[in-house]
Amino acid sequence: MNTHTYQRIDHADGLAFLTTAQTRYDGSESEGETVLLAPRVVGVCRSDLREIRGERFGRRDFGHEILGTVLDAPQALADLRGRTVLFDPHPLLRHRTSGFAQLVELVAEPTQLRAALVPAPPGVPTESAVLGEPLACAVHCVRRLLAVTEDRGTPLSSPVAVVGAGIAGTLIAATLLALGYRCTLFNRRADRIRFLLDRGALPSKVAETDLSRTSFEHVILATAHASPGYLDTSVRLLAEGGLLMLFAGTRPGDRLYDLDIDQIRRHELTQAGAVPGKLFTLAGTYGATRADFTEALTLLSAPTTAGQWSLADCAHRLIARRLELSEAPAYLTAAATSGYLGKAVVHITTGPSERQ
Ligand SMILES: NC(=O)c1ccc[n+]([C@@H]2O[C@H](COP(=O)([O-])OP(=O)(O)OC[C@H]3O[C@@H](n4cnc5c(N)ncnc54)[C@H](OP(=O)(O)O)[C@@H]3O)[C@@H](O)[C@H]2O)c1
Repeated sequence: MNTHTYQRIDHADGLAFLTTAQTRYDGSESEGETVLLAPRVVGVCRSDLREIRGERFGRRDFGHEILGTVLDAPQALADLRGRTVLFDPHPLLRHRTSGFAQLVELVAEPTQLRAALVPAPPGVPTESAVLGEPLACAVHCVRRLLAVTEDRGTPLSSPVAVVGAGIAGTLIAATLLALGYRCTLFNRRADRIRFLLDRGALPSKVAETDLSRTSFEHVILATAHASPGYLDTSVRLLAEGGLLMLFAGTRPGDRLYDLDIDQIRRHELTQAGAVPGKLFTLAGTYGATRADFTEALTLLSAPTTAGQWSLADCAHRLIARRLELSEAPAYLTAAATSGYLGKAVVHITTGPSERQ
């Protein structure tokens, strides 16, 4: 492989910064083969900001919502050279560099590299397609809900409550709607709901700030953290014997009474739970499969009808900020400590330079 010099955002001590890097891996390492991916659009995720703050548990994948072009790949992946792909951060790689960059170096066995690169179907808009990764996690959550409810013999005939109107909660609500289920999206702060309604990201009947409503058979918690306050709200919204699906961020040791909620989420367990005055079932959802990515990209590329809500329009309307690579470090550093509404995406319009 040729050596490339490229611009990349790294972070240290709570600050994101732009640096000039050289490709380090030439495909001959014992660590595995190398794919060079040239990102075109990269989404900013809550977990990127956690990495900047040094508060991410379990994984490191700074800049993982990537839609890009495969610039170079080993012979076993020759069919992917030049293809537009969505990066799947879940397959285990030996090494990867920051995704907020003109180039990303991915090092692993060819099977793992192939698993991490999901070819984008023609017709999916580039910018919305970058939401394919969080959408795949939302699809996985809904599929997991459907599987658990089928096991329990409690079909989704009544509306599902989704708690947390951030990007994840909105995409989970949007997936439920796109698949023909009813849902109500709750958030404690009214500005998040207003943001969604002002942009027409969701139909107005779906959004709700009154957290005093009760009695949903199925509740999904999708906030940035499964904090005691939001756990309490979710359990309060549940009908006796209902099912709480846990998607929200958890940390090792987090508990809900007797339940180890971090283990339940990360290992996708289903356990019976009880709080004073209520019995319920808690199930976890974690990550996404290739099938979830494929379904997410299919949903994003479905034709839209003027005047009718669609998931593709929802994804597009969630994008609140568009940044060039050079502008992104300041945004990432600020957003890591302050709040934000909607999705920020980084457009990478210039390429790396190359030396034989
Ligand atoms: N299970 C999985 O497979 C999976 C996959 C991807 C992500 N996740 C998790 O999903 C979470 C949500 O991601 P996102 O992109 O939707 O984030 P986001 O947009 O930042 O989420 C905003 C939501 O989180 C709430 N929130 C903000 N700060 C909070 C805090 N300190 N404690 C409790 N709630 C807080 C907000 O409530 P207010 O408006 O009231 O502040 C709002 O409802 C991520 O943190 C990640 O851990 C899970």
